[in-house]
Amino acid sequence: MSDAVLNQFTPTADVEQAAPQTELRIGLIGTGWIAESYAMVMQTLPGAKFVAAADLVPGKAEKFMKKFGFEGVNFYPDHKAMLDAEKLDAVYICTYNATHAECAIEALNHGVHVLLEKPFTVTLDEAVAVMRAEKANGKILSLGFQPRMDANMKMIKKIVESGELGRVYYIQTGGGRRRGIPNSTFIEQKTAGIGALGDIGCYSLDMVLNAIGYPKPLTVSGYKSAFFGANPKYNGADAARFDVDDFAAAFIRLEGDVILDFRISWAMHMDTPGDTIILGTEGGLRIPSTECWNGTVGGPMVLYKDVAGQQVQHEIPLLENKPEGIFYEKLASFLDAVRNGGEAPVPSAQILYNQAIIDGVMKSAEAGREVEIAIPEI
Ligand SMILES: NC(=O)c1ccc[n+]([C@@H]2O[C@H](COP(=O)([O-])OP(=O)(O)OC[C@H]3O[C@@H](n4cnc5c(N)ncnc54)[C@H](O)[C@@H]3O)[C@@H](O)[C@H]2O)c1
Repeated sequence: MSDAVLNQFTPTADVEQAAPQTELRIGLIGTGWIAESYAMVMQTLPGAKFVAAADLVPGKAEKFMKKFGFEGVNFYPDHKAMLDAEKLDAVYICTYNATHAECAIEALNHGVHVLLEKPFTVTLDEAVAVMRAEKANGKILSLGFQPRMDANMKMIKKIVESGELGRVYYIQTGGGRRRGIPNSTFIEQKTAGIGALGDIGCYSLDMVLNAIGYPKPLTVSGYKSAFFGANPKYNGADAARFDVDDFAAAFIRLEGDVILDFRISWAMHMDTPGDTIILGTEGGLRIPSTECWNGTVGGPMVLYKDVAGQQVQHEIPLLENKPEGIFYEKLASFLDAVRNGGEAPVPSAQILYNQAIIDGVMKSAEAGREVEIAIPEI
């Protein structure tokens, strides 16, 4: 055996000395509702601290940090002022959808790692621009899809990868709420850019696309409507400013001759638009929808197979998550990647296809016909 092979197991001086335990310097961009979940995790997560926070609303970031008991934080009126003034390791971007792209691009161009909330962006072009900045600066960009950390979601991928389903050829995904239109910044173009399609549709798409290895989307015939959000009968005073979608459906062709049948709803006259199903040549998987669709698994999954000539069904019990919770894992896995130079836990290269479908549904719905999905070079 050569010295080179033997020496690979010999600890080097660097390995013997414990790495200095410096805390990662984190900036928070956007101190609204979801930022609260980040703050609660940061209260217990070791190895990282908030050193800066920015919000467009005067005084909001200060109040936020005080509420969660963080001290020694510098405050800024927007993301740019913060990035210009601070030396940060990473930022959490918790702004509404419409400013995801500008905040992420600015952070990456300042040489800062980024954990960006979902959906990736509003348009495909914005996602492409963010990924170009990621590539140019060699920083980590991870997307905030915490259902990815759920043990049951991981199980869906394991089942597909085990080959139990054979060749997957058809998927029905999506879910929705009978009534569950959010308010605040979620319902206007100027802040949200997209409605249910982006807000919870991105989770439904990720649940199945991640399981089958994110094949490239090719064409989409999409539909969107807003019969509930824009109607005061169902949405009270918020109806006057509601100008995004509250329901969307689409038929999508994926590379590898896979069909994706997708529907999502913030409001409808139905309890659910159906469970998620994955059909393969050797088996089928039913994934129960949750009542308040949030991208997770709603109950025990069922695997349908033929065994020795008999049609059988196996129930897959729901798996427990770690006690810290999936949101904790979302931040911890991102910070691990930052610290160790690892891969983004939820990489942009995957979520680009998720965004391409959302963008395709919008374009197809507006055109009233099927459209091809063209993804520019990054
Ligand atoms: N992962 C999840 O479970 C989850 C849940 C809810 C929301 N979200 C996502 O989180 C994002 C924020 O949602 P929210 O409910 O917290 O919204 P929000 O409106 O409560 O908060 C957003 C904040 O960002 C600030 N902001 C916007 N642009 C800014 C900029 N350029 N610089 C500094 N501050 C800026 C706004 O002033 C606002 O305070 C959305 O994209 C949403 O889809 C994720």
